[in-house]
Amino acid sequence: MSGKKGELRSLLEDAAQRGIAYRDSCDRRSVAPSTQAAADVSRFAEPLPEDGTPDAETLAMLDEVGSPATMALAGPRFFGFVIGGSLPVTVASNWLSTAWDQNVAMHEVTPAAAALEQVSLDWMIELLGLPQGTGGGFVTGATVANFTALAAARHRVFADAGWNVEADGMIGAPPLTVIVGEEAHPTLFKSLGMLGLGRDSVVRIPVDDQGRMRVGKLPVIDGPTIVCTQAGNINTGAFDPVGDICAAAKSARAWVHVDGAFGLWAAASSRHRHLTAGMELADSWATDAHKWLNVPYDSGLAFVARPADLAAAMAITADYLINESEFRKPSDYTPELSRRARGVDIWAALRSLGRKGVERLIDGCCRHAQRFAEGFADAGFEILNEVVLNQVLVSFGDDATTRRVIREIQHDGTCWCGATVWQGRTAMRISVSSWATTENDVELSLEAMLEIARRLA
Ligand SMILES: Cc1ncc(COP(=O)(O)O)c(C=O)c1O
Repeated sequence: MSGKKGELRSLLEDAAQRGIAYRDSCDRRSVAPSTQAAADVSRFAEPLPEDGTPDAETLAMLDEVGSPATMALAGPRFFGFVIGGSLPVTVASNWLSTAWDQNVAMHEVTPAAAALEQVSLDWMIELLGLPQGTGGGFVTGATVANFTALAAARHRVFADAGWNVEADGMIGAPPLTVIVGEEAHPTLFKSLGMLGLGRDSVVRIPVDDQGRMRVGKLPVIDGPTIVCTQAGNINTGAFDPVGDICAAAKSARAWVHVDGAFGLWAAASSRHRHLTAGMELADSWATDAHKWLNVPYDSGLAFVARPADLAAAMAITADYLINESEFRKPSDYTPELSRRARGVDIWAALRSLGRKGVERLIDGCCRHAQRFAEGFADAGFEILNEVVLNQVLVSFGDDATTRRVIREIQHDGTCWCGATVWQGRTAMRISVSSWATTENDVELSLEAMLEIARRLA
């Protein structure tokens, strides 16, 4: 380890140069790492050094062994899962705020980071059309955002039933009904499990051919109830009819939650906002900034219409902490006490893009998804979903053929798409979520994928 000023400068400059070279390479290299590069990560498995190693040598190894073994998620032609590509300004803000090394638990200790959280929270609430007065917490991703928002839901519905779940736990609690769509994301069930509400003790509502909850199948709601809806199905991009569900659920005083990991961002686009109609009537929302807002990993948000419900589930006090504050206390709204300053990158993204830039980002990805769907359909391949957002499902024939084509596409390296099973059929998933993807990238990828599909299908 080196600690002198000159050494710090040369180390950070070296890191910046290597980071810049890496980002420059992302649209030229194979999207997937080579088999050799992936195998070479075994070089990291050294014995723990007894006396330490020079910093420059450690950084060089990280770059020389690590960089080739990365997937080019930051590049313009990664279409797997739902993964954004980190806007340049957010990489820069992330580097600077890492240098700050702020622990954003209390405003008084880290005023810059806490103020940036407050501003970015207010901007997002405005951009996404959430009710005035909504509050929220900055977490690692939508999984923890669902967990966090549902902890607030659990607090409120039990409190209304006269039970203090934070103090007394779940044993002996009054019965609680949790309603979810058949197509809820697996992480939502995981969140319910972590909250002691049970992954399986839920009422599952049947869905239509796009994965949307059938409102007519909702049971009569009676007693403490949480209804979990979804904005943006991981496969089809479809939205539950959240407005109709709210209308049915709210009159029975149920809590309505929206898992909008990527779909919530449709509200920032006048062309796509209609998909989220009525969403503002819900009580809580989960989303990711590392998906469609394109900030570096990891970054998710839990929004709660009445922030006191979230604070009731999350806030703690201790004699050594600053318990009273005239400012928003960031750690009152998150499972963690100590954490990195995620609001900085969100602020940088929103300030750099502006309202119109976010809209262009969303609309651009959706336009690219449409073009992919058209390209495959024109070539005679079947599109399995209504392409309403940024997700496309393509079949290349029977399941085995589709899987063979996907494997070859991944191996080819021009772009990267993953496989899924949609309502019993294997499909290739294309998710366009990166700011970096251009029309040219779409055409280049289509050409490479169609050549493989025609050869193998
Ligand atoms: C609807 C939905 N919910 C939750 C998640 C989990 O998000 P994360 O991986 O950021 O925790 C995803 C991931 O794609 C998703 O699409």
